[in-house]
Amino acid sequence: MSDKLIVFDTTLRDGEQSPGASMTHEEKVRIAKQLEKLRVDIIEAGFAAASNGDFESVRAIALAIKDSTVCSLARANDRDISRAGEALRGANSARIHTFIATSALHMEKKLRMTPDQVFEQARLAVRFARQYTDNIEFSPEDGSRSDPDFLCRVLEAVIAEGATTINVADTVGYAVPEQYGEFIRNLRERIPNSDKAVWSVHCHDDLGLAVANSLAGIKIGGARQVECTINALGERAGNCSLEEVVMAVKTRKDYFGLDVGIDTTQIMPASRLVSGITGFVVQPNKAIVGANAFAHASGIHQDGVLKARQTYEIMRAEDVGWAANKIVLGKLSGRNAFKQRLQELGIELDSEQAVNEAFARFKDLADRKSEIFDEDIHALVSGEQGEAGEGAYRFVALAQRSETGERPHARVVFSENGKEVVAEGQGNGPVDATVHAIESHVRSDAELLLFSVNAITTGTESQGEVTMRLSRSGRIVNGVGTDPDIVVAAAKAYLSALNKLQSPVEKVHAQGI
Ligand code: KIV
Ligand code: ZN
Repeated sequence: MSDKLIVFDTTLRDGEQSPGASMTHEEKVRIAKQLEKLRVDIIEAGFAAASNGDFESVRAIALAIKDSTVCSLARANDRDISRAGEALRGANSARIHTFIATSALHMEKKLRMTPDQVFEQARLAVRFARQYTDNIEFSPEDGSRSDPDFLCRVLEAVIAEGATTINVADTVGYAVPEQYGEFIRNLRERIPNSDKAVWSVHCHDDLGLAVANSLAGIKIGGARQVECTINALGERAGNCSLEEVVMAVKTRKDYFGLDVGIDTTQIMPASRLVSGITGFVVQPNKAIVGANAFAHASGIHQDGVLKARQTYEIMRAEDVGWAANKIVLGKLSGRNAFKQRLQELGIELDSEQAVNEAFARFKDLADRKSEIFDEDIHALVSGEQGEAGEGAYRFVALAQRSETGERPHARVVFSENGKEVVAEGQGNGPVDATVHAIESHVRSDAELLLFSVNAITTGTESQGEVTMRLSRSGRIVNGVGTDPDIVVAAAKAYLSALNKLQSPVEKVHAQGI
């Protein structure tokens, strides 16, 4: 048995299935490049058959990534698999991940198929996928709630057809650690050809057990691949958190005895990038990447840490990429310095014009903020794509008045399909007034589900990053806006969310009913 744990990141596929977390093509490529820097073994780039846009994103990632294997999800049918195979053509290293539900409940209620039909479809899917690549993963969806006898039959057959990874999905987050670990061990012991495949864990966090279940699958079950996402992004309560599972295996190497190829210093940049792009803010007390994760606030702890670090610290902040905010650029920095920093951060803009526009925004920010950090640059670039994007609305300017005892008033100037609109509104607070002003013209009929503000660096000079989550007719989107003025950031976030609401959705949900 290998002593390496393979890290399979599914932020761009399972993570993106989370309502509101959808990402643009360019954002996905940017995240994929960061995942490559993080040295994840496999990047699940998407579900190529979901839409033409998803196909193009998987294709672009397959061509852009050299050091990680790029994978596409595919349901167990010929069309999905051929879309995945085509999207991955040209990749340095490609994997097709095909799946079908195997629990009695899913087979009967969702698939309306008999177990024999599912068995046959699983086998044929793997056989069909072999024409595109030898690197094939098969997942029994809702595997942890499936009948072990039936699962043994299906898994033995798909391994015989050439599946090289078997991923036992805890699709609904129902498993508990010991039982899940033993479930996998039992399958491996009973299936005669189980040693021909790498066993993998894929756990959702509905009971808050995704990381614990994954670790049990590794330790007790002998799994050597873990599927996970940055910041635990994922459907409902999310997936197994990459940063937590990786740091658990690394920090407790004495217990797990496994090597992990991850460059942990890239964890924080990856976390920031994913939260900035998706608008899913990281809670302060989140392990590893939360703002308080390494803040030894209590006096007793501080004293201990000063005397000997190990008294209260089991990991070093710098090892997971928590560098003190570094001033990287300022008002006097030129275009070359800016461009070089973009390169160092792995940000690739697709044209010189895009660099010029980003540089103009950088100069504008540097006029208002004396110290520019890496986080500001990431926000600046995300902002360009997120706030303005290709949507109808673009922020232009805002004037806002509020005074104790007076009802706040906002005047927002924005463009709609290139035409300037001036709108005014009042509200309970400056943000409410701003939203009323925009809505007095747009009349979107959307409901605001979430509004959050986050300082992206330290100090009162920091830019505020605002997330606005809107819902309309069952569709949920997140808009993100950044600016040193948080009311302006809110206006940008709101317009960005409206743009996303307008974009067409003809996407197929891989696991939909
Ligand atoms: O949760 C799940 O079952 C999945 C499968 C597609 C592996 O995401
Ligand atoms: Zn999943």
